[in-house]
Amino acid sequence: MKLIVCENYDEMSRKAADLVAEIIKENPKAKLGLATGSSPEGMYAELVNDYQEGKIDFAEVSSINLDEYVGIDPENPQSYQYFMNYHLFDKVNIDKNNTNLPKEYENLNEATEKYNDLLDKFGTRDLQVLGIGPNGHIAFNEPADKLNMRTSIIDLSPETIKANSRFFDSEEDVPKQALSMGMADAFDAKTLLVLASGKAKHEAINKLVSTDKLDPQFPASFLALHNNCYLIVDKEAYEG
Ligand code: GLP
Repeated sequence: MKLIVCENYDEMSRKAADLVAEIIKENPKAKLGLATGSSPEGMYAELVNDYQEGKIDFAEVSSINLDEYVGIDPENPQSYQYFMNYHLFDKVNIDKNNTNLPKEYENLNEATEKYNDLLDKFGTRDLQVLGIGPNGHIAFNEPADKLNMRTSIIDLSPETIKANSRFFDSEEDVPKQALSMGMADAFDAKTLLVLASGKAKHEAINKLVSTDKLDPQFPASFLALHNNCYLIVDKEAYEG
């Protein structure tokens, strides 16, 4: 794992954007795996700036996202679809037909199967952006005795519901389930770019950089299996 410790959130965001921009410049048809959450927000803002300054072009870029809440429609400002439109897709020249997020169909089993089919068609990504939950979750793969390899419906842990309640009016409003890529799907990329910022992530980052065990109760430990993984964190996440 290539660890990069930045002074602050802004530096972390710029470094992350540089990595994404480099991949798009090398391959204008880059296939990106994207993530939501507060960690990559600044990186998306930097990429929008780069686009506005004519440094990068998203015309032929395609993307696929990690996860989406169950029971929240795409127009809802709390949905991950809305997040992606707001922070990136509506502000750059990406073709929205080439962007993908899990969609809820009538039937959740059907939705997971469709997402797995979509992932298979999409193929290995050039880069996958990831965040880490304070409990070490990756996408919405929560600590468990066994982790899913492929897309599944996940019951969110009380810890995740609490952590994500900051985006909602109250804890009760946070969905209890999400549709999420599995671990094998989330890692199916030539490069992984993991971002973490702030003291709330210190425990998870400390555990990640010091553990020598693969532990399904700490899904982030599996990042060690990837041979090209960048972990870009700020000082607060690293030092506490
Ligand atoms: C959320 C998302 C993850 C994200 C993580 C960290 O629950 N499902 O994909 O990486 O938790 O979020 P944040 O960056 O807001 O701390």
